Amino acid sequence: MPLPFECRDGVLYVEDVALPAIAAAVGTPAYVYSSAALRNAARAFRAGLAPIRRKHLAFAVKANPNLAVLKLLAAEGYGADIVSAGEMLHALAAGMPASSIIFSGVGKSRRELSTALDAGIGQFNLELEEEGVVLAAMAAARGQRAPAVLRVNPDIDAGTHAKISTGRKQNKFGVAIDDALGIYARLSKLEGLALRGIAIHIGSQLSDLGPLEIAYARVGRLVSDLRAAGHTITHVDLGGGLGLSYRPGDVMPSPAAYGAMVWRVTRDWNVALMFEPGRFIAGDAGVLLTEVLWVKPGAVDPYVIVDAAMNDLARPALYDAFHDFVAVRPTGARMTANIAGPVCESGDTFAMGRDIDAVSAGDLAVFRTAGAYGATMASTYNCRALVPEVLVDGDRFAVVADRIAPEAMLAAQHIPAWITDEDRTSEPVLARKAA
Ligand code: LLP
Repeated sequence: MPLPFECRDGVLYVEDVALPAIAAAVGTPAYVYSSAALRNAARAFRAGLAPIRRKHLAFAVKANPNLAVLKLLAAEGYGADIVSAGEMLHALAAGMPASSIIFSGVGKSRRELSTALDAGIGQFNLELEEEGVVLAAMAAARGQRAPAVLRVNPDIDAGTHAKISTGRKQNKFGVAIDDALGIYARLSKLEGLALRGIAIHIGSQLSDLGPLEIAYARVGRLVSDLRAAGHTITHVDLGGGLGLSYRPGDVMPSPAAYGAMVWRVTRDWNVALMFEPGRFIAGDAGVLLTEVLWVKPGAVDPYVIVDAAMNDLARPALYDAFHDFVAVRPTGARMTANIAGPVCESGDTFAMGRDIDAVSAGDLAVFRTAGAYGATMASTYNCRALVPEVLVDGDRFAVVADRIAPEAMLAAQHIPAWITDEDRTSEPVLARKAA
């Protein structure tokens, strides 16, 4: 089987579509996803968890909320892990059953809790005691019992970038694991809650299963303690976090290694396990296609200025993340260069002093491993268009999210009457100067 992203006759393909054909039809920058790569990752993750009999897989929608992507994952039997009513809307629109949706997140508004209750979602992951009290009252008023678990913070350093680490006690997520027994006891008495277990998620892009195993083991002890206190525990949500290799040669834990670890730690728990993978499913399935605008001399190395920028792919600027950069028509020649976008910030730099395929103005190139936390984190900074998304399936492709042009942004803005009125009485500054 051909790889989803590979060079044929000197041109980079996504499945059976050559990237220049997509650039010609859609323009650049653009995200391009491979259906095969998405399905492969979804199946590999499930296969890794084969030893676990009772499980529910919920794709972390935040990683890639594109409707076509969600539909494809729904067909693979994935539900959704959401953190907002907006993500719920996307999951439902993609045909994911409400019962397959898990609502995580430390800042669910009352309105969002209410919308999710109305939709009948499968599980609320409570992040603080008061959230449980409010949810219980809302559910009871509707004659409902909201299925819920309590998210605990195990105080473990996941060994990942500080901005995507969530399981240390200074992080905002979950209740301190030492307080969990007391909070659980109080919440379990509330009529509107069907409290059924525990949730945990210690961070993203985890390259080492060690901290996860320690965290899971702590959850195991908590489950025993809760049962000893008379609670019925039927569900444990183990979160997401499995990392991906972004740099060629990086070795990351496989789903099979992850599954073996999970089985080892949880085999006596006698619960249904829930998983919330995001990056592992979507990351490798996408590239950001870009065109080289200029190659500009620099103080040390030349700057390759591409038409994609930090507003399209924020990860390098936010987390110093590495995204491999490869030419769509590599010649074999190499160069050492900085790679930067057009946005007016020095932080709009994808790489410094990197050894890359030699490129010149007009060439196409891609940033790899951009299918997760790519398009979804894009913005319109510098009044740049919102980057479009393309899905490839075999030899066909379709635009699955439009480029939102500055014209549309203008159309969504409004000038209050008082500004217009004042405007009529003042002369334009430039005209005044010229006079
Ligand atoms: N479940 C919860 C409760 C989460 O907070 C997250 C990610 C996931 C699941 C999915 O984690 P994953 O399997 O994708 O690692 N924007 C950052 C990543 C932020 C992750 C936030 N939470 C980045 O680009 O690296």
